[in-house]
Amino acid sequence: MKQCCECSSTASSQKEGFENSSDLSLLDPIFEKYKHKAGSLISILQQAQEVYGYLPLSVLDYIAEETGIKAPVIYGVATFYTQFRLNPIGKHLIMLCMGTACHVNGAKDIEEAICDELKIADGETTTDGLFTLNNVACLGCCSLSPVMMINGETYAKLTPEKTRKILKEIRKNDQQQVEEAA
Ligand code: FES
Repeated sequence: MKQCCECSSTASSQKEGFENSSDLSLLDPIFEKYKHKAGSLISILQQAQEVYGYLPLSVLDYIAEETGIKAPVIYGVATFYTQFRLNPIGKHLIMLCMGTACHVNGAKDIEEAICDELKIADGETTTDGLFTLNNVACLGCCSLSPVMMINGETYAKLTPEKTRKILKEIRKNDQQQVEEAA
């Protein structure tokens, strides 16, 4: 299926970032951009999360060091807002739309199917590290609702059955790849 909005770039950059989570120099262009702008902490955290996929402690410490903002303040902000993740995301990031159109067209049923199939709740990652579920606001594809995106790919007009099938197929493809590589 084709992508329908700009969220795909966020998802793919999160995936790339996850692989680079120890390279703190990736933050330097962000500090450069905000160095003379007061009140930029949330923007810095958002962009750091785009780079790494989540906010590891080493990243929060580095932000404290570079901005001069006390580390407890940064931890406080990062833990207060639900948009920030302090743990790594799975290989497949499921962004399930909970916007109005999707909600009206059954997003709650889709969420139940995902949670039951993967045994996780919103914001959690499966124990095998394959899937993370994130409920999000409108993805910009309302006419296709209910919608989810997985690693930048859009899945439209979902039903609980269709959703379970998609997840099973992704898992099966992953297993096949592992077997072929072994
Ligand atoms: S409400 Fe779900 S895509 Fe807009």
